[in-house]
Amino acid sequence: MQVPKVQSATVEILVDNFFDIFEPSRPGVVERVVLGRLPKPLLAAHGLAMLLTLNQNGKQARILIDTGNSPLSFFNNLEAMGHGLNDFDALFISHGHPDHYGGLLELLQRRGPGLPVYLHQDCYFPKLLVTPRGRVGPFALEREKLVAGGAQLHENQGPALLQDLALLTGTVETTTPYEKPLPGFKRIVQGNEEPDPFSDEQALVLDVAGKGLVVIGGCCHPGIINMTKYAQKLTGVSQVAAIIGGFHLTAGGDDLINGTIGGLKELGADLVLAGHCTGFKALTKMAVELPENFMVSCVGTKVTI
Ligand SMILES: [Fe+2]
Ligand SMILES: [Fe+2]
Repeated sequence: MQVPKVQSATVEILVDNFFDIFEPSRPGVVERVVLGRLPKPLLAAHGLAMLLTLNQNGKQARILIDTGNSPLSFFNNLEAMGHGLNDFDALFISHGHPDHYGGLLELLQRRGPGLPVYLHQDCYFPKLLVTPRGRVGPFALEREKLVAGGAQLHENQGPALLQDLALLTGTVETTTPYEKPLPGFKRIVQGNEEPDPFSDEQALVLDVAGKGLVVIGGCCHPGIINMTKYAQKLTGVSQVAAIIGGFHLTAGGDDLINGTIGGLKELGADLVLAGHCTGFKALTKMAVELPENFMVSCVGTKVTI
């Protein structure tokens, strides 16, 4: 599938689980926020939101990816990072978990009708988590509420383009032996609770001229290596400039962590920026195993490709 090239891309992390003022920058590529220069403090929260700014043939476009876990974190951090409600042309929701669409309904309400919202059609299935400490959920992203809020919905199942700027992979083809849906995650389909295959989670993929692919995942429940390999297959581009997102590794145990680190080494991305649901143990292991490429995604981090 032909993905239109962009000449450059920046990714700003608006909401993430982490904030650590001592995480290093990589000059010209990864810049960290300077706390004393912000109009208000940033909040770290279990959720994810990013703002993409793309330059394509002299034109600038902005895409919001996810809306954090709540209006509190999302609107606070949007403002703290110096952005307003109209600073993006479209929204992409990575998958149907509430820590990614927490600010969405209030965003629609505050911004008014007409925001293009891109998401997989399976995002609407109610989701729940079964843990040793009990059941959490179900939570549902209700289509009727998005329509009532004036969202201009673009739903896909297979690969699709987001405004001739980015590729949405659609349901991810899974190929690695170590990336499997974790058993605690469930969804409800026609009243029946079933293991969640995460057909709703897709990667957003950019092709940056001269640099290669930028693969962005929300929680990467289908597996970040599966998502990146599928992006390579769909685009026919093998070079990977950056892999960014929550990788959901620690909860999967050592086989998943080690398999994924091996996969990342093979892919050879210039930058691996992981945060959100990746988990502390997996982050620290990646920091040791991928010392040249890996960086922690913190609230306020700005990546330039
Ligand atoms: Fe998440
Ligand atoms: Fe998730």
